[in-house]
Amino acid sequence: MLTISKELEQELQQKIQASGGVIEKSVLDALMVKFDIEIKLLLQNLLPIAASFSIAPISNFNVGAIAYSNTSGCAYIGSNLEFNHSALCLVVHAEQSAINTAWLNGETQISHIAITDAPCGHCRQFINEVKQSEQIEILLPNTNTSLTELLPHSFGPADLGNQTRLLDMSEEQNPDYKLPISQMLFEHYQASYAPYSGNKSAVEIRTVQHGNFYGRYAENVAYNPSLSPLQSALSQMALSGLTIDMVEVTEINLVETEQFKNQSGVSEVVLNSFEGNFEINKVYVS
Ligand code: THU
Ligand code: ZN
Repeated sequence: MLTISKELEQELQQKIQASGGVIEKSVLDALMVKFDIEIKLLLQNLLPIAASFSIAPISNFNVGAIAYSNTSGCAYIGSNLEFNHSALCLVVHAEQSAINTAWLNGETQISHIAITDAPCGHCRQFINEVKQSEQIEILLPNTNTSLTELLPHSFGPADLGNQTRLLDMSEEQNPDYKLPISQMLFEHYQASYAPYSGNKSAVEIRTVQHGNFYGRYAENVAYNPSLSPLQSALSQMALSGLTIDMVEVTEINLVETEQFKNQSGVSEVVLNSFEGNFEINKVYVS
């Protein structure tokens, strides 16, 4: 392991918090020069910083993940997020969080994922939804491997006749929306990935001092590993060093598709796991 000074660690943590989990190519390039190290080893050495964003009151097991694109040269941080007094199936895994960060930040390719521990079956299945997942290299503490090796004979999007993948560019563009929601929320709604239920959906959390946080629905062919838009937004908050109960929230807006809506209940359950009264404004797109 590299010795990363406390100052550098804090500087990187601040950059990650300010960007919602992104480490820009220029920063990675400078670190590779500084430590005379190639990208894969650098990513692995940055994992403790990713894990420092973990919120794990149930397990106390802090997981960090970093998704990297060798096209854009950017890295995207992920950490696990547990909700006290809520069903364990609602926990966001670090790998989901890293992929979510990449996706929300407009990334269209993931070539590597570095993780502090071996990915669980649920995460292997989640990664399998990503565009060109068979080419993703998985960097683990003791070995580098591939998703194909970790998930042979897999069940994938094509098994349900779905030809699209997570991180594909969304084709639907409708600039003249007329909904009582922000343009930004509408864009996330459109970019959400719901090929199985059809329920495109997104969440906006507006705060007084920390700006707005967005999350998008990311479905999975095996259904259970799907990430709800609220989980997605709360994971982004965690990467800014925040939880929803420590900031002043002015509005939580959920937009989903009238015909297929399925996110209202799960969003309420997740929010109820926090102290405080959180109301969700629900907007349905017909
Ligand atoms: N965890 C991950 O974040 N990724 C994995 O693939 C393994 C498990 C998290 C989930 C939960 O917060 C804790 O580790 C214990 O399972
Ligand atoms: Zn997992």
